[in-house]
Amino acid sequence: MTRHLLRDDDLTPAEQAEILDLALELKKDRWSNKALAGPQTVAVIFDKSSTRTRVSFAVGIADLGGSPLIISTANSQLGGKETPSDTARVLERQVAAIVWRTYAQSGLEEMAAGTRVPVVNALSDDFHPCQLLADLLTIREHKGDLKGLTLTFFGDGQSNMAHSYALAGVTAGMHVRIASPADYAPRADVVEAADRRAAETGGSITLLTDPVEAAAGADVVVTDTWVSMGKEEEKLARIRDLGGYKVTPETMTIADSEAIFIHCLPADRGYEVDSEVIDGPQSVVWDEAENRLHAQKALLVWLLDKKDA
Ligand code: CP
Ligand code: NVA
Repeated sequence: MTRHLLRDDDLTPAEQAEILDLALELKKDRWSNKALAGPQTVAVIFDKSSTRTRVSFAVGIADLGGSPLIISTANSQLGGKETPSDTARVLERQVAAIVWRTYAQSGLEEMAAGTRVPVVNALSDDFHPCQLLADLLTIREHKGDLKGLTLTFFGDGQSNMAHSYALAGVTAGMHVRIASPADYAPRADVVEAADRRAAETGGSITLLTDPVEAAAGADVVVTDTWVSMGKEEEKLARIRDLGGYKVTPETMTIADSEAIFIHCLPADRGYEVDSEVIDGPQSVVWDEAENRLHAQKALLVWLLDKKDA
């Protein structure tokens, strides 16, 4: 049956682990898998800006023997003139998979419901599951087994990244803490979904407003921009409201002494994180950015294997 990755809990714990195992294999032997030989084409559509996602999908699809077709929504009929499901019905006759960075999660759901090829969420307002596969791969490389590790996210708890850490982190059996002001706490339905998944894996999700309590003993310290794409008009309010959740050298001293720092990038240095942290010895953000390539290749190989004939 065709599978899609629209949100992090679309993958079971076993499936998530299987994709991470495959990503590690592909990282060791980068050109070993030609799942897109032909070449088959993968459409990669952007409604929002991107550096890492665009490059890692284009390079990864080529590594797999395929051909990336990068589409800007501004120059296409999607995003105004044509619905996601009609677009999907056109694309599925010609491409092996559709990757889409967009605003509303509902658009991705409509796209996936309208097609027999896999649809991948390359970031929506609600989730960023491809980033989480790369982040979990990075944490595994630096800290070993994911189960039982404590990961603290600081900042905008309603962001796509916070929601994805909640779902993907507990799927991996981690203890996820989200540190944010109460007005920026994660959406209730996402927390409920994370709680349900945590009951299966032994992980947990905890919402905290005290950044010191949230940092204490954390194995992984994470933040993300305070001003996600689409939230630019709220910039000043967000700088005011989220200032107490900046990751500073002091945050890292409260965390576990062997804690690592990750950030999906791009970073607003001096806002959500100080340069001393992102450039410091505990930061693994460049490994994390590279791992987008390996994790997404593994995801595409896994999805193509499940695709309807
Ligand atoms: N982390 C991430 O998705 O980066 P881009 O916005 O550059 O793709
Ligand atoms: N939360 C950020 C992530 C960017 C990769 C945004 O949506 O802009």
